[in-house]
Amino acid sequence: MLEAQLQSLAASARQRILASATPEQLQAVRVEVLGRKGALAQISKDMANVPPQDRARIGKLLNAAKTELEAALESRENEFAAQALHARLDSEWLDVTLPATGPRPGALHPITRIQQELEELFLSMGVAVLDGPEVESEYNNFDALNIPPDHPARDMQDTFWLTDGCCLRTHTSPVQVRGMAKLGPPLRMIAPGRVFRNEEVDPSHEHTFYQLEGMMVDRNISIAHMLYFMKTLLRRIFGCEVTVRLRPGYFPFVEPGFELDIQCLICGGSGCPVCKHGGWVELMPCGLVHPNVLRMGGIDPEQWSGFAFGLGLTRLVMMRYGIDDIRLLQSGDLRFLRQF
Ligand code: DAH
Repeated sequence: MLEAQLQSLAASARQRILASATPEQLQAVRVEVLGRKGALAQISKDMANVPPQDRARIGKLLNAAKTELEAALESRENEFAAQALHARLDSEWLDVTLPATGPRPGALHPITRIQQELEELFLSMGVAVLDGPEVESEYNNFDALNIPPDHPARDMQDTFWLTDGCCLRTHTSPVQVRGMAKLGPPLRMIAPGRVFRNEEVDPSHEHTFYQLEGMMVDRNISIAHMLYFMKTLLRRIFGCEVTVRLRPGYFPFVEPGFELDIQCLICGGSGCPVCKHGGWVELMPCGLVHPNVLRMGGIDPEQWSGFAFGLGLTRLVMMRYGIDDIRLLQSGDLRFLRQF
């Protein structure tokens, strides 16, 4: 009776193991047949009712069935594992013979590039490279540069004021003030950096842009020194001889003050859209340092004189790379940046 039951159970289990289509179905068979409360466990319990003379024989049959089903389950499980592995290998294969895409290296922003180039150039000329804070005191940004509180020149620069009376520096000129205090005369310094103005943003105006300030103080510095220095600088920047001219320009911290123009490098001075058909391009304001500025910087204007200039780094980058919209520079647009 129990023997027949055992045989039919083993046969149907064998059948189900072979027919199982998923590891889950297989697991269900394992639980039902071989589990702690499974069919075989039940038969083991029922052995108690088997007449003693049959017990050994049926017990053997039971063990044999267990071992056989165990083996069948394991082999079917191995088949499923192999199938899963193949499926994974198929989906994850990699053709190692394909040509590599190669790393995509980053690049320096064009402003950083020109700034570094200029820093190297000035360092080779024995000029110190100084840094100043972007949040500046009103005194350094204006007063010490000979721009008193009620002076209309303050309106020339739309200032971002902070609540503590400080401002975002509107130009790099306050680093002149810091440079005089730090270095004392004679001194040669430049200060590249970011400046801020409360401006309406359009293709040629940004609220944030870059300048490079320069200042030399020594004995008997004249406009001739300034001109020579500027021409050397521009030759190195543009890689060719550059014709310059000075026009008078007003800035409270220089006297006399100038606008330095260069002859248009595109048309050579005959007139083109870049120079608006004038033949000249306005490049940088400059001048001899105002005696008041020297005095406020602790330098005796009777003993020392100097020149200063404020190069528009952002404008220089735009001219050099032919960029016609200033907003691109800080757009973070990778299509633009990848070109450099
Ligand atoms: N700080 C001026 C500005 O941003 C530019 C400038 C003019 C700087 C004349 C100078 C200078 O050093 O001599 O408008």
